[in-house]
Amino acid sequence: MTIIPPLTIPSIFQPLIQAWVAWFTVTFFSLPIATFFMWWDFPRCIYGLLFQKKPRVILITGADTRIGEMFALEYAQSGNTIGLLSSDKYKLNRLADECNKRGAETFKLYVDISNLELLRDTVEEFLSERPIDLLIANTSQNDIIKDVETRWEDMFEQVILTNINGIIGVIMSTYKRMQDLGKGQIAIINPTASNISIPQLIYHNMTKSALLSFSRDFRYLAKKHNVNVSIISPGLIDTQMTAKTLSPISSFKLFFASAHSLAFISRIQLQQGNVEIVWPFLETLPFYAYNILPPRIINTVTYFIGLIGDFFTGTNSVAWV
Ligand SMILES: *[C@@H]1O[C@H](CO)[C@@H](O)[C@H](O)[C@H]1NC(C)=O
Ligand SMILES: *[C@@H]1O[C@H](CO)[C@@H](O)[C@H](O)[C@H]1NC(C)=O
Ligand SMILES: *[C@@H]1O[C@H](CO)[C@@H](O)[C@H](O)[C@H]1NC(C)=O
Ligand SMILES: *[C@@H]1O[C@H](CO)[C@@H](O)[C@H](O)[C@H]1NC(C)=O
Repeated sequence: MTIIPPLTIPSIFQPLIQAWVAWFTVTFFSLPIATFFMWWDFPRCIYGLLFQKKPRVILITGADTRIGEMFALEYAQSGNTIGLLSSDKYKLNRLADECNKRGAETFKLYVDISNLELLRDTVEEFLSERPIDLLIANTSQNDIIKDVETRWEDMFEQVILTNINGIIGVIMSTYKRMQDLGKGQIAIINPTASNISIPQLIYHNMTKSALLSFSRDFRYLAKKHNVNVSIISPGLIDTQMTAKTLSPISSFKLFFASAHSLAFISRIQLQQGNVEIVWPFLETLPFYAYNILPPRIINTVTYFIGLIGDFFTGTNSVAWV
């Protein structure tokens, strides 16, 4: 027997009801739980800092980017073994030299992240001989598609290949090894901008959202094997890439944090065992607010963001993704 008629609300009222439910949830659930977390975190973070073992063997992907480079240098000290994965031979050599100088034992994993087979072999070779403690996973390319000959309708394969297949391939190879070792920590870098970005970055946004939900489920599955998964969510970070893509905004250096500060903050928070590392924090608040809007309102916002995107980039400019 069905309940007739299915209880519903006329569609014109739905956004209003959704907004009200969001308010109710924030007031009666989010606030009390967040307050509880605050007290819970005091001892947890201090305990992590003091007693958690420091990672000794670290694998860093996307080592050719500014952020990857800073992470490498952050962990480069004597006693540590660092694997650097990148498709840029020149930058890789330079970075490896620098890490060696700081006393770390450094291995260069030179591979194009879109060549999945080679990627897996390279990563597994590195892992098989060393007890990996920490993986810092990130795709190093997202502004690769500059080819104006290619229509944006045809670009999805390449973006999905590097941003999804490549990154998840590395994560899974590492995870299997960590399972054998019975411990490990995996940090997935996923920019905050993926929560709200211009529609002209359609595939980028799509893959980053996919990665975000992947990380959440993966955290649960990995926990059973004593592998801890964290997400590092950088906001505006001063890198060459942001200088290029965010050209009108990037002149306001005030809003940008350095890649070095991101690496430092992340290292401390990974040590504390935090699962969501957000830096710089304040500028992520608008993104946060955006995410609790009712879907109809999000769609409207996306539409206007699209108009602004068109204005700055010219229509059909998905090519600069
Ligand atoms: C990580 O990927 C994002 C986007 O794909 C990029 O902005 C960032 O520079 C990359 N960082 C590293 C460490 O590879
Ligand atoms: C994972 O996190 C828990 C606490 O949440 C901690 O007890 C454990 O040692 C961590 N495991 C590793 C391998 O870091
Ligand atoms: C980007 O993805 C997020 C989900 O992570 C979504 O809320 C947002 O609307 C997307 N941006 C655009 C412009 O579609
Ligand atoms: C934004 O995305 C990052 C990962 O990309 C995630 O850690 C964070 O929770 C998201 N923020 C909001 C407000 O959804």
